[in-house]
Amino acid sequence: GQIRNIRWRYKVRELPRIVVLTGAGVSAESGLKTFRDNNGLWEQHRVEEVATPEAFATNPALVYRFYNARREQLQQPEIAPNAAHIALAECEKALGDNFLLVTQNVDDLHERASSECVIHMHGQLLSARCCQSGKSHVWKTSFDADTHCPCCKPPARLRPNIVWFGEMPLRMEDIISALSNADIFIAIGTSGQVYPAAGFVQLAKDNGARTIELNLQPSDTITLFDESKQGLASEIVPAFLRELLEEWQYP
Ligand code: APR
Repeated sequence: GQIRNIRWRYKVRELPRIVVLTGAGVSAESGLKTFRDNNGLWEQHRVEEVATPEAFATNPALVYRFYNARREQLQQPEIAPNAAHIALAECEKALGDNFLLVTQNVDDLHERASSECVIHMHGQLLSARCCQSGKSHVWKTSFDADTHCPCCKPPARLRPNIVWFGEMPLRMEDIISALSNADIFIAIGTSGQVYPAAGFVQLAKDNGARTIELNLQPSDTITLFDESKQGLASEIVPAFLRELLEEWQYP
């Protein structure tokens, strides 16, 4: 598309290093509920109560059911990447190693839009983690306490490969290193209520990056951003990325 062929018209100047953080808002128009827009309830439980190691210890059946339902929903035919996912994948193609996509989302819509290098800091729905070895396995079907891991003898239990509240997000070293070297940090469709992701903008700013928020409405951290645009991700993300990359084209 438009963005893809910009790369060949760049000036000699260094390509910008862009780090993008996405949240549930980037997948909302693809049909996946966000956490806080639907008052964060599921089967009358607060998500914060289900997505925890304690819930898995005391009521594993509820936790398996919660993630089995979300894994199944994600694979429904009507759930597909939207224009925001596609524009981010094209931006990655245009910038190559100068572009890093970090997502809080556990869906695979960025990959289905052909993003190749995605850091899922909160884990992924379409995989399962062995409770014994910690290894993760691609897993697209439902599983429960009676499902055994394929990696241990004797076999161990599997858990959703999701980072629960109170657990350490994944690949934080890589994320912090990228934020420390970023020229531009863009947060898309995240409410800025959950740390450490909500703190990324400050880290990027402290290292001199230009910071932009793209969201349907101002997030809790809006005041920390240099710029912000409100609107639907499927509209403002393609437009903003195209405009941003045009800056590196010949006049
Ligand atoms: N376009 C752009 N932004 C949108 C859209 C849309 N169509 N629809 C909703 N949003 C924005 C909302 O304005 C809100 O700021 O998406 C954000 C959704 O916020 P949350 O539901 O809090 O999702 P997120 O920020 O990703 O949550 C972070 O919290 O529950 C945990 O681990 C879970 O990764 C999740 C984390």
